[in-house]
Amino acid sequence: MAYRHFEFIEKHAWTMGVFTAIMCSLGGLAEITPLFMEANKVQPAEGVKPYDALRLAGRDVYVREGCYLCHSQMIRSLRFETQRYGHYSTASESVYDRPFQWGSKRTGPDLARVGGKYSDLWQHLHLMNPRQVVPQSNMPGYPWLSLQLIDGQDIQKRMRVLRWLGDPYTDADIKAAPKAVAGKTEMDALIAYLQGLGIDNEPPKPGAATAAATAAPATDGGAP
Ligand code: HEC
Repeated sequence: MAYRHFEFIEKHAWTMGVFTAIMCSLGGLAEITPLFMEANKVQPAEGVKPYDALRLAGRDVYVREGCYLCHSQMIRSLRFETQRYGHYSTASESVYDRPFQWGSKRTGPDLARVGGKYSDLWQHLHLMNPRQVVPQSNMPGYPWLSLQLIDGQDIQKRMRVLRWLGDPYTDADIKAAPKAVAGKTEMDALIAYLQGLGIDNEPPKPGAATAAATAAPATDGGAP
């Protein structure tokens, strides 16, 4: 009896296809579901806070402009990476990044810890036209960012959604948002975001874990 059922399935391509799809979906769920549960368990590292209003606005500009198409924010745990960029990236640093910007495309350098590397003025000149400060750069300029103002109401809405998703914003944080971004341009916000990368979010002791890897004098190549 059962044999005849199998024979029917095996001789009818569509039925076979449907059953194959069902089995693959079950297998997929069994593999993927535990990963999702695992991801939800990641706790923020010490000192990692959700983005303040201005940096949150800057992060949205970063995503909208597609900076991630040329820049990763993921330092791998390999010696030449940690020597150049600092402590390797950890999941607990990115708990408040939705979606996270790790990426893997590196037309330009990794930006995970670029905060504080340059002055705000350098960042401004670089974003207006990268060749003003790095003559050989092939990064595009983003001059229009200095013309657009940040919408405070919009940022408040985003903060509410993020709070709903679990970010610990207080009512006071959300209430203060429009004032914090008042008169600020998208350029200001993006620079604030960049200048915070790896500063607030760095794991406790960056030197400690890389000390072994950097036994030789650290050399920072500088070029991308
Ligand atoms: C077409 C690829 C490309 C895109 C898109 C791009 N960049 Fe770049 N970026 C580069 C390259 C190449 C460099 C290295 C040369 C230089 O410094 O200009 C660079 C360098 C940088 C640096 C300096 C990093 C360092 O450690 O010296 C920053 C900061 C930066 N980019 C930010 C951004 C931001 C923000 C955006 C989006 C608004 C962006 N980039 C979009 C290619 C790109």
